[in-house]
Order: sequence, then structure tokens, then C-alpha cells
Amino acid sequence: MKDQLINCTRNAFQKHFNQVPDYIFLSPGRINIIGEHVDYNDGYVLPAAIDKYICLAIRKNSESNDCKIFSYDLNESFSFKINEKIEGDSPMWVKYLLGVAEEIRKTGKRIEGMEVVFSGNIPMGAGLSSSAALECGFAYALNSIFNLNFTKKEVVLIGQRSENQFVGVQCGVMDQFASVFGQKDKAVMLSCDSLDYQYYDAKMDGCSFILLDSRVKHTHLTSGYNDRRKEVEKGKKIIHDNFNEMETFRDCTHEMLDSVRGELGEIIYKRCLYIIEEIKRVEVAAKAIYNQDFKLLGELLNQTHFGLSKQYEVSCPEIDFLVEETIKMDGVLGARMMGGGFGGCSINLIKNENVAEVTEKIKKIYKSAYHIDLKIYEVKISDGTKEYKENEYSI
Ligand code: GLA
Repeated sequence: MKDQLINCTRNAFQKHFNQVPDYIFLSPGRINIIGEHVDYNDGYVLPAAIDKYICLAIRKNSESNDCKIFSYDLNESFSFKINEKIEGDSPMWVKYLLGVAEEIRKTGKRIEGMEVVFSGNIPMGAGLSSSAALECGFAYALNSIFNLNFTKKEVVLIGQRSENQFVGVQCGVMDQFASVFGQKDKAVMLSCDSLDYQYYDAKMDGCSFILLDSRVKHTHLTSGYNDRRKEVEKGKKIIHDNFNEMETFRDCTHEMLDSVRGELGEIIYKRCLYIIEEIKRVEVAAKAIYNQDFKLLGELLNQTHFGLSKQYEVSCPEIDFLVEETIKMDGVLGARMMGGGFGGCSINLIKNENVAEVTEKIKKIYKSAYHIDLKIYEVKISDGTKEYKENEYSI
């Protein structure tokens, strides 16, 4: 799969630009085990990079002031002048790349002309962070090719700022961090305010994470993601005004929240309640993974789903249906919607011996309820963004 993607991207480059690329970079999508919608609320998250990628083939062209880009999957081209302020509207896929170039320009560092072809096998709009993979893959590549000397954390933040400021989605830092810092067979426990992180063994002995793609597509520009962000910011301010000692949601207790319930109003109360409970759940989940206590981990996933669906209200009927149906089945330890929500995938912790039966069953049930062919991904936890060099790379 990975080799096929690399060959296909390299061939497309040769065909499009009549040259061989100098560099190949691979940037992965991510799953998130637990810690949803808390990355922009100073919480902890537990994502991991997966073996689905955006592949970028690049050739430096120091004589030119242009960056010429071809998206193989969309069969569309775009070019822009490097190191010049970027203005005006452009198609969405272009914005992810322009945003990166613009964020780099703002730091005062300079890049040179180049040709780029990219292609990917991360399903788009499925909640697997294809956009973060593209942003971070491009930022990582430019950093490496033009010796910009950004740290890996700076690359992550360039990707995130590009999405916040150029694309307009007020996302947190989780997806970009997972894409860049992913490690084979490890989940990354990230503290989203300090960006401190720690790797956890994610080899789930006897169980697997299986993704069920509802095929309900979403984009967080219109999904309600930015609204949730505003709601919790408003909530946080109200709580802080009443309890000055509360600096982040980590310091907020149920008692504090309950005492300002009237002032918050029911909707914002529910949103904040979800956040403080999810922050606590991630800490318990990390310990459960450490102790290989999959029963407990599964229960926590179920609780997160309840919270996302009923308190934070970012699920959708199709995903709720998938979760409700799968958790009834033998061998399913837990399930929940994953990522920003409003569509995309559910993540399911399933005992290995039951995976085939569960996936067969849920496919049929889903098809008869929604007339949609469910897609099933058995992903492997893999390394983060890297330059691909023949004979050197192993995933
Ligand atoms: C999207 C965002 C992330 C995060 C998740 C929800 O994937 O890009 O920053 O907020 O939703 O956990």
C-alpha cells in the first residue's frame, strides 16, 4: 500500500514535470484512542499515527520564484510565487499548502522555487486527519529541503496555524502533533497546553482498534466545530470570573461547574461538563493501557461516546447507530465516534477472535438501516512524518 502510493506519486511527478523528484516525504493520518475535543481545552489526548499517508514528491528549482503544485488525486494544478504575501481565495486543498508557505514566510525564513506532486490514501472527510497530514508533510518537507531549522514542535505549530488562520478551522494541535510525532506501535500522550508528551505502548495484546467509516463526510469549516469552541470559551470565562483560581479546565471541578450552572445555561453547562469529565477519563485510560486493562479502556471509550453524543453533541445519527449496534456484539470492548465528529469514523476496541464476525454483522445492519456500504479500516500504528529514502525506511 505504502510502496504503491510512493510509486504512483513518483510516476505522476515524472509525467507532470518531465523530471525525477529529488525528495519523497510521507506524512501519516491519525487515530485518537481517547481525549476528544479537549486539545483546545488544555486537556490530554492519546492519538497515534497510522499507516495511511499523504505522499509528497518534490524537486527544488532554485532558479525559479514559483512553487508549482499538482494534486494527483484531484488532477488539479496550482502555482504561487514564493516568499510573497499570499492573498485572495483559492480551492481548499491549495489553502492547506498556501497556509504553510505563508506561516513560514511570516517567520522571516525563506524558501526557494520548487515543483511538488502529492497524492494520498487517507480517506478525506473521514476524521483521519488527511488535512493535518498534508499541512505537516509540506511543512516538514520545506523545513528539511531548505534547512529552515524549525524544531519538530515548530513544524507542528506551523501546520496548526495554517489551518487556524488560512483554512479557518479553529482546530487544536492534536492531529498535527500525532502526524509529526507518531511512532510505530506507540500512542502519544500529549499534554496540549505545554506540548509535553510521552509514548505509551499501544500493542493491544489480543485486541485491535478497528475503524468503521460511516461515510458521512464533513468539513469542520461548516460542521459546528468552531461553534463548540466558542461555547466552551464562553463557559470557561464564566467559570473563571466566579473562581479566579481556575486557569484551565483541568482545575475545574463538578462543584464549581454546578455552582454556576444557571449563569452558564444548559447548553454551555453540558459542553463544559463533557470537557472536565473527558480530561479525567484520558488520565484513567492511559493507566488502563499501561496495565493492559482493555475492559476498563473499553468502558471509557463508551463513556466518551455518550459524552460526545449527548453532552458535546458532535456525533450524528449514523455514528450513534454504529456505536450502539457494535457495543452489543460479542468481543466488542468499547466503541465511540472519533475525531471532530459530525460524521467520519467510529473507533472500536475488539477482541481479535471476534473482529471478522463483528465487521461482517455491522456491515449488513448498517446497509439495511442507511443503505450505505460501510468501509472498514484495520490500521497499523506507524511512524510520523518522514523523508522516504530507499532501503532506509521501515514501517
Ligand atoms: C479535529 C481537530 C482536532 C481535535 C479533534 C477533536 O480532528 O482537528 O484538533 O479537536 O477534532 O478531538
